[in-house]
Amino acid sequence: MNAVNLLLILPLFFTITLPHSVNSVKQNSSNETIPQHFFEVTLPLPTDNITPSCSVNLLNHTFTNTTNSSSVTVNYTTPPDKCHWSVAVLDFKVKYNGEQDTSNGIAGVWINGVELLRTTTPQPSENGSFWNIRKDVSKYSSIITHHNLTLSVVLQNLMKHDVNGVYNVSVSFLFYSDVKFPLSLHSGESGSHSLNRKLMSFENDIKNYIKNCENEDKLGFDRVIKSSYPYDPPADLIIPLSEASDDGFWFKIHDESEIQTKNVRICPKTYKAVLELYVSFHGDDEFWYMNPPDSYIKSNDLPFTNGKGSYREVLVTIDGKLAGTVIPFPVIYSGGINPLFWKPVVSIGAFDIPSYDIDLTSYLGLLLDNRNHSIGFQVADGGSFWLVDANMHLWIDDTNVQAIVEYEPPSMEIEHDYEFEGLDGTFETEVERSMSSIRMIQSSKGILKTKVTEEIKFKNKLKFKDDGTRKELEQKIKTKTKVKTTDTKGHSVGEIVIEKTYPLKITIANGRGSSRVNTTVVQGRSVSFSDEVASISRVLNHDLNCTGWIMAKGNSGFAENHQSYSYDDGEGGCYSRTVDVVKGDVIADETTSNCVK
Ligand SMILES: *[C@@H]1O[C@H](CO)[C@@H](O)[C@H](O)[C@H]1NC(C)=O
Ligand SMILES: *[C@@H]1O[C@H](CO)[C@@H](O)[C@H](O)[C@H]1NC(C)=O
Ligand SMILES: *[C@@H]1O[C@H](CO)[C@@H](O)[C@H](O)[C@H]1NC(C)=O
Ligand SMILES: *[C@@H]1O[C@H](CO)[C@@H](O)[C@H](O)[C@H]1NC(C)=O
Ligand SMILES: *[C@@H]1O[C@H](CO)[C@@H](O)[C@H](O)[C@H]1NC(C)=O
Ligand SMILES: *[C@@H]1O[C@H](CO)[C@@H](O)[C@H](O)[C@H]1NC(C)=O
Ligand SMILES: *[C@@H]1O[C@H](CO)[C@@H](O)[C@H](O)[C@H]1NC(C)=O
Ligand SMILES: *[C@@H]1O[C@H](CO)[C@@H](O)[C@H](O)[C@H]1NC(C)=O
Ligand SMILES: *[C@@H]1O[C@H](CO)[C@@H](O)[C@H](O)[C@H]1NC(C)=O
Ligand SMILES: *[C@@H]1O[C@H](CO)[C@@H](O)[C@H](O)[C@H]1NC(C)=O
Ligand SMILES: *[C@@H]1O[C@H](CO)[C@@H](O)[C@H](O)[C@H]1NC(C)=O
Ligand SMILES: *[C@@H]1O[C@H](CO)[C@@H](O)[C@H](O)[C@H]1NC(C)=O
Repeated sequence: MNAVNLLLILPLFFTITLPHSVNSVKQNSSNETIPQHFFEVTLPLPTDNITPSCSVNLLNHTFTNTTNSSSVTVNYTTPPDKCHWSVAVLDFKVKYNGEQDTSNGIAGVWINGVELLRTTTPQPSENGSFWNIRKDVSKYSSIITHHNLTLSVVLQNLMKHDVNGVYNVSVSFLFYSDVKFPLSLHSGESGSHSLNRKLMSFENDIKNYIKNCENEDKLGFDRVIKSSYPYDPPADLIIPLSEASDDGFWFKIHDESEIQTKNVRICPKTYKAVLELYVSFHGDDEFWYMNPPDSYIKSNDLPFTNGKGSYREVLVTIDGKLAGTVIPFPVIYSGGINPLFWKPVVSIGAFDIPSYDIDLTSYLGLLLDNRNHSIGFQVADGGSFWLVDANMHLWIDDTNVQAIVEYEPPSMEIEHDYEFEGLDGTFETEVERSMSSIRMIQSSKGILKTKVTEEIKFKNKLKFKDDGTRKELEQKIKTKTKVKTTDTKGHSVGEIVIEKTYPLKITIANGRGSSRVNTTVVQGRSVSFSDEVASISRVLNHDLNCTGWIMAKGNSGFAENHQSYSYDDGEGGCYSRTVDVVKGDVIADETTSNCVK
C-alpha cells in the first residue's frame, strides 16, 4: 500500500483491537465487568443537581444493525399542563454493547423536523460503555409545548460494512422552574422567564400566523433591544428547514454543485428571524481541513477521492442570493486521527455538535411579502458528503412591523497558495468574508437603527513532508459579530459583540517503512460575548492537547489527552475544569469555581 494512501485513510477506516490496559473505570472488589463511562468536557448545566419539576420519558429504543439504518419515530408528549417550568433539558442516554470496531456513529433528534441535537457515538469499549448528554433546549420551547407532534431519532453508522453493535437509547425531557440564568453565554440580563405557553397545534399556529398579517403599528422598544440576543426570549415559532426521509431529516449534500432547498412563507408580523444551522461532515470530507488539492492528487497519480483542497463553507441562500455563510468548527469524531485519544473523554463538540446562528432579520425586507421563498443550502468546494439542515426561529409581534433594511451581500476574498514537488508540498488557503446590514425599525421610542456586521477569517496551512508520510496542519477560524443599535439622536442604546476563535493543529507521521504512526492534536474553542450597555462580558475557553501513537496494524498504541475548560460569566461566577487522560486512564480531573485573575 502506498504510504501516503495509508496515512490519509487511517483515521477513517482503521480497525483496531484496544489494548487491555485501556481502562478508566476502576473495578470494585467483585469480578463483575463495569461499562466504561464516556464524557465530553463542557459547562455543566445549573440544573444538573436539581430535581426537575416534571419529566417526560419519550423513547426507549434498542438500535441494532445501525449501518445506514433508518429513523425511529414516536408520538411526542408535552409536559403536563400543571408543570411549571422555565428551562427544558434534553436528556439523551446511551448504553452500548458490541463489536470492537472503530466506527463513527452519527445521531440526531428532531421534533417534527426541527433539530434539537446532533451528536456522535464514541469508541466501543471491551466491557460495554455508556454516556449521557444533557442539553439546554429552552430555545425550542415553542415546539416543546405543542401537541400532536412526533419525535424522531436517528443513530447510524456510515460504514462500508455492517456493524453489529447494540445501542440502547433513552430520550427524555426534564423541565425545571426557578433556574437562575444565564444558562448560556448569549442570553441577556439574568432573570427567569416563564415559558409556559398555551398548548396549540403546530400546524394551526403556522396557519394563524400566515393569516393575520394586517394592521400597522410600532414595536415595543424593549423588543427591538432584545432582538440583539440570539434566543432571549425564545422564538415564538420555529419552522423546520429539513426534509423527512427514511434515514433522518437532514439534507445529504454530495458536492459543491448540489443545492438543497426548502420553501418558507413568512408573514410581516415577524420582527426577528434567526436561521440555526446544523452541520456535520463525513466520508471524503470528514477531515476536509486536511484534504489536498486535486492538482496534487492528479500530478502524483494517487487513488484518493478526498481532494478539493482544505477550505469548506456552508452557504445559505434566499431565492438564490447568498444570505449567510458558516465555516464549521472542525469536530473530530471518535475514530479520528488516533482513536485512542478519545477514550473515555471525547473531543470538543463530539457529543453536542455545535449549531450556528445566521441572523436573517436583515433579510426580512425580502421575506415579508407573504409569498413563498426558497432557502437553499450548499457546501462550497464540498466533497461527499455533508449532513445539513436548519431551524428558522421567528419572533412575532401583535403589530405589523415595518423594518427598512439596507444590506450588503456577503463579500469574500479567497487566496490559495499551493506549492508541491512530488509528494511533498505546502498548501495555504486564506479566506476573509465580511457582511453588514443596517435596519431601521419604528419603535415605541422612535426610529431605532441597528447595524449588524460580521467578519469571518479562515487560515489553513497544510504541509506534506518526508515523501508525504508526514502531514502537518495549522488552521485558525475567527468570527466577529457586532450588533449596534442607536436611537434617533444617534446615542447607542445597545451594543453586543460575539467573538469566536477555533485554532487547530494536527500532525500525523508514519515513518517510512514503519507501521507506527505518531499523532498530535491541539485544538481550541474560545467564545467571548460582551454587552456594552448592560456591562456584561463572558468568556469561555476550551483547549485540548493530545499526543500519542498507534500501530497501523496490530493492536497497540499510546495516547494522552489533556483538556482545560474555563468559563467566566463576568459577574463573579466562574467554572474551570482540567482533565488529564493517559493510556485511557483519567489520572486527574479537577474542577474549581474560582475566577482566575
Ligand atoms: C460492584 O459493582 C457492581 C455494579 O456497580 C455492584 O452491583 C456491586 O454491588 C459492587 N460490588 C461490591 C463488592 O462493591
Ligand atoms: C467471579 O469469578 C468466579 C471465578 O471465575 C465465578 O465463579 C463468579 O461467578 C464470578 N462472579 C461474577 C459476579 O461474575
Ligand atoms: C473489563 O472487565 C474485565 C473483567 O472484569 C477487566 O479485567 C477489564 O479490565 C475490563 N476492561 C475495561 C476496558 O474496562
Ligand atoms: C423506558 O425505560 C424506563 C426504565 O427502564 C421506564 O421507566 C420507562 O417507562 C420507559 N419508557 C418508555 C417510553 O417505554
Ligand atoms: C442490516 O441492514 C442491512 C440494510 O438494511 C441489511 O442488508 C442487512 O442484512 C442487515 N443485517 C443484519 C445482520 O440484520
Ligand atoms: C400517535 O398519534 C396518532 C395521532 O394522534 C394516533 O393515531 C396514534 O395512535 C398514536 N400512536 C401511539 C403509539 O400512541
Ligand atoms: C452506507 O452508506 C455509505 C455512504 O452513503 C456507503 O458508502 C456505504 O457503502 C453504505 N454501507 C452499506 C453497508 O450499505
Ligand atoms: C438493551 O435493551 C434490551 C431490551 O431492549 C435488553 O435486553 C438489553 O439488556 C439492554 N442492554 C443494555 C446494555 O442495557
Ligand atoms: C390532536 O389530534 C387529535 C386527533 O387527530 C385531535 O382530536 C386533537 O384536537 C389534536 N389536539 C390539538 C391540541 O390540536
Ligand atoms: C408555497 O409552498 C408550499 C410548500 O412548499 C406549497 O404547498 C404552496 O403551494 C406554495 N404556495 C405558493 C403560492 O407557491
Ligand atoms: C515517532 O515518535 C518516536 C518517539 O518520539 C520517534 O522515535 C519516531 O521516530 C517517530 N516516528 C515518526 C515517523 O516521526
Ligand atoms: C501539548 O503537550 C505537549 C506534551 O505534553 C507539550 O510539549 C506541548 O507544549 C503542549 N502544547 C500545547 C499547545 O499545550
